[in-house]
Amino acid sequence: MKLLLLLGFLIGCYAATTRQERRFPDEFLFGTATASYQIEGGWNADDKGENIWDRMTHTKPDVIKDVSNGDIAADSYNNYKRDVEMMRELGLDAYRFSLSWSRILPNGLSNKVSEAGVAFYNNYIDEMVKYGITPMVTLYHWDLPQKLQDLGGFANPLFPDWFEDYARVVYEHFGDRVKHWITFNEPREICYEGYDTTTKAPLLNATGIGAYLCAKNLVLAHAKAYYAYKNDFAPSQGGQCGITISVNWFPPLTDSEEDQIAAELYRQAEWGIYAEPIFSAEGGFPKELSERVAQMSMEQGYPRSRMPEFTDEEREFVRGAADFFGVNHYTAFLVSAAKDTEFIVPSVYGDTGAVTSVPDEWPKSASKWLTLAPDSILNALTFLNNKYNSPVFYITENGWSIRYEDGLEDDDRIRYYRAALESVLDVLDAGITLKGYMAWSLMDNFEWMEGYTERFGLYEVDFEDPARTRTPRKSAFVYKQIIKTRVIDHEYEPERRTMTIDDGK
Ligand SMILES: *[C@@H]1O[C@H](CO)[C@@H](O)[C@H](O)[C@H]1NC(C)=O
Repeated sequence: MKLLLLLGFLIGCYAATTRQERRFPDEFLFGTATASYQIEGGWNADDKGENIWDRMTHTKPDVIKDVSNGDIAADSYNNYKRDVEMMRELGLDAYRFSLSWSRILPNGLSNKVSEAGVAFYNNYIDEMVKYGITPMVTLYHWDLPQKLQDLGGFANPLFPDWFEDYARVVYEHFGDRVKHWITFNEPREICYEGYDTTTKAPLLNATGIGAYLCAKNLVLAHAKAYYAYKNDFAPSQGGQCGITISVNWFPPLTDSEEDQIAAELYRQAEWGIYAEPIFSAEGGFPKELSERVAQMSMEQGYPRSRMPEFTDEEREFVRGAADFFGVNHYTAFLVSAAKDTEFIVPSVYGDTGAVTSVPDEWPKSASKWLTLAPDSILNALTFLNNKYNSPVFYITENGWSIRYEDGLEDDDRIRYYRAALESVLDVLDAGITLKGYMAWSLMDNFEWMEGYTERFGLYEVDFEDPARTRTPRKSAFVYKQIIKTRVIDHEYEPERRTMTIDDGK
C-alpha cells in the first residue's frame, strides 16, 4: 500500500514537471488579430469608398443589436501608434490585421489607388516593423467595396479578376515589409452568413444557393491572388501566401452510423467546401456533399444542382494554391442526424441533414455560439492534418467574449486561453507543423451584428470616450507572461497591473 502511494506520488511529480516543462519554441509566433472594419473607423476619411458594412449599418441600423456601427469603432485610423504601443507592451512577435479594400481602391477597381489609404497602412506597418513586430496581413475581412456588391459581389464571375487586381496593388505597395499574406478571412462567414442567410452583410438570404456560388468564386479568387504573388512577387519579396478558414470542431453526438455521416456532411458544409478545393489531393468540392446537393436539388425541382461544378482546368488551378492553412478556431459542436421535418426550404444545413448541440457543462461566453469545448484545437488540427497531408498551419484567431459590465477581471478568458494554449502544445507534441497563434483580439471592437455588446479584447476600449482609451484587462498580463516565458503557468496571478514595455521591443 505504502509502495503504491509512493509510486503514485512519483508519477504525480513526473507528470507535474513534464507539464511545467512544455515550452513553446522560440520561433513560434505569438500575436493578436483584428480586422479593418472592426477597429479602424475613419469610414469616410479622405477618399475612402463605401463598403458593404457602411451601407448596411447606415441604411438598416436595426440589424445591429445595439444599433451601432463601425463609423469610428476603436478609431485605429487615428490611434495606430497606441495600437503598436499595446503590441509592444504585450511583447507580441506578430500582429494580424486586415486591409480595407475600399480605403485603398475607393471604387473597388484598381484604376484609382488612394494615396491617403496607402499612406495609412504604410504608417501602420512601418510602426510595427520599427519595433520588430511581424505584420501578418489579411487582404479581405468582410468589407467589400459597395460598388462591387452592386455588381453582384462574390457572385459575379469577374470577381476573381477584381480580387487579383486588388491583391497586386497591395503586394506592390506593402510587400517589401509584409511576408505573411492571407487572402480571405473565413469564407464560410462571407458566403454562408452573407449570401445564404441574413447574419452578415450584404444580407442576401439566397438560401441554399448563395453560399455555393460564392464558395466557387471565392476559391478561384484566392487562387488567382495566390499565383499572382507566387509568380510575380514572391521571387523578389520572399513571403508566403495562404488563406484563413474557420474550423471549429464537429464530432458526432453518438457512434451511430447516422450521426457519423451527419457529422462528416456537416464538416464538409462548414469548411470542406472552402478547404477541399485548395488543400485536398483531388481538388473540387467535397464528394459526398456535392452528390447530396445534386440529389436534393433534383428532388426539389431544380433543373441542375444548386452547387456549381469546377471545370477540370479550374480544379487543377485551385488545387494546391496555398503556402499555409490559417485556422480560426473557437469552439466545438456535437452533430447528429436531423429528422426529415427539420428543414423546409432548401438550405446549406438542410443539405447536410444534420443538426448540432452543445453539452450543458461546457462553460459559456457572452456569445451564444461560443463555449469552452475540451481539446477542440487538438481535435480539429489533427483531423485537418490527416485529411490534407500535413500542411503548414497558423492559428489566425482564437478567443473569448465577455460583456462590457464584466470589466477588467476576465478570469473566464484567462481559463479559456490557458486551455487553448495547452491544446496548442498538444498539437506541437503531436508533430503537427503549427507556426503561430494569434489571439482574438488585441482590443475590444465592433463585433458585427452584436455591435459593442460582446467584448473580445485583451484591452478594453471605452467607446463612450472620444479618445477611445484602451486599458489592459487581467488577461493581457497573463498572455504577456506566457509570451515572455514560453510556458503556461497556471498559478500565475498578475499582481501589479501597470503595463510596461520590456526590453527588446
Ligand atoms: C430569408 O429566406 C427565408 C426562406 O426563403 C425566409 O423564410 C426568411 O423570412 C428570409 N429572411 C429574411 C430576414 O428576409
